[in-house]
Amino acid sequence: MYNGEKLNAQAFIDEQIAQIKAQVGSDNVILGLSGGVDSSVTAMLIHKAVGRQLHCIFVDHGLLRKNEFEDVLKHYEGMGLNIKGVRAADRFFAACKGITDPELKRKAIGKTFIDVFDEEAHKVENAKWLAQGTIWPDIAESHSDKGTIKSHHNVGGLPEEMHLGLVEPLKYLYKYEVREVGAAIGLDPHLLGRHPFPGPGLGVRCLGELTPEKIAILQEADAIWITALRKSGWYDKIWQAGAIFVPVQTTGIKDGRRTYDNVIALRAVNSIDAVTAQVVHLPWELLDEVQHDIIANVKGVNRVVFDISSKPQATIEWE
Ligand code: XMP
Repeated sequence: MYNGEKLNAQAFIDEQIAQIKAQVGSDNVILGLSGGVDSSVTAMLIHKAVGRQLHCIFVDHGLLRKNEFEDVLKHYEGMGLNIKGVRAADRFFAACKGITDPELKRKAIGKTFIDVFDEEAHKVENAKWLAQGTIWPDIAESHSDKGTIKSHHNVGGLPEEMHLGLVEPLKYLYKYEVREVGAAIGLDPHLLGRHPFPGPGLGVRCLGELTPEKIAILQEADAIWITALRKSGWYDKIWQAGAIFVPVQTTGIKDGRRTYDNVIALRAVNSIDAVTAQVVHLPWELLDEVQHDIIANVKGVNRVVFDISSKPQATIEWE
């Protein structure tokens, strides 16, 4: 925990359930689920405390991984959560049209998220509380004394606009502690073992203007990368992996013809708290297989590179 104490997961769960019950009473609570570990564990804790008083909203901003929305929604429904899936990709692409600056993109995604979420939240009667899966590194990084490095849309934004009280049971925990709590509370190992995924999703892994076409290319390449990591057993040994769409055209050759297509960068890092990160030393054969599969199968890509930068001075996400 942020104060250096060692976490006892079961004691933490019991304490949080009691605290949430006392805080919320008979009011309804709204939670934006993202498919990630933090919001899933937050949902489980609150679900255990107040059951169907918890109303979960899962927004498809069109920037999720391939098939992610359907898969994760099914998973959550299976967990018994009171959840609504909202398809809103068109609104996000419209809001991001023409924007290339990374921070402005994040702001446009964040603002649209608030609008969509707010509309859905207003449909829930007697909603007085907003739950968030904020964890300690989100707070520490967003409010660094050296100024904002990146605006994290799960810190700030929603509560001010919505006039709701905050429920943030994980806000003093590190990621590995959130996983310990998730395991103790019985979260499905598949959800629990997922790599961190940023709120703005592939939006921060697709450089330049966001378009459905670029995101579709990125989703295909990312799916090949993640599937190869899972099949080879590396996925669970890596803290975070993903693909990045780099809209720089380079020359290639396919079927005897010259191509002038985009670059996909692959990233795989290990970390404890996302404050520092080291590149994972993957076997050359695996990288070679993945570059081959991506270039052979993803139209619009003719070059794949592996990002060997650690944090600092690079960040984990490219934007
Ligand atoms: P960076 O790129 O700052 O990322 O080294 C550190 C960790 O934070 C995640 N990240 C985000 N998570 N909303 C999130 O919920 C965001 O806007 C956001 N930006 C970065 C990133 O995936 C990494 O785990």
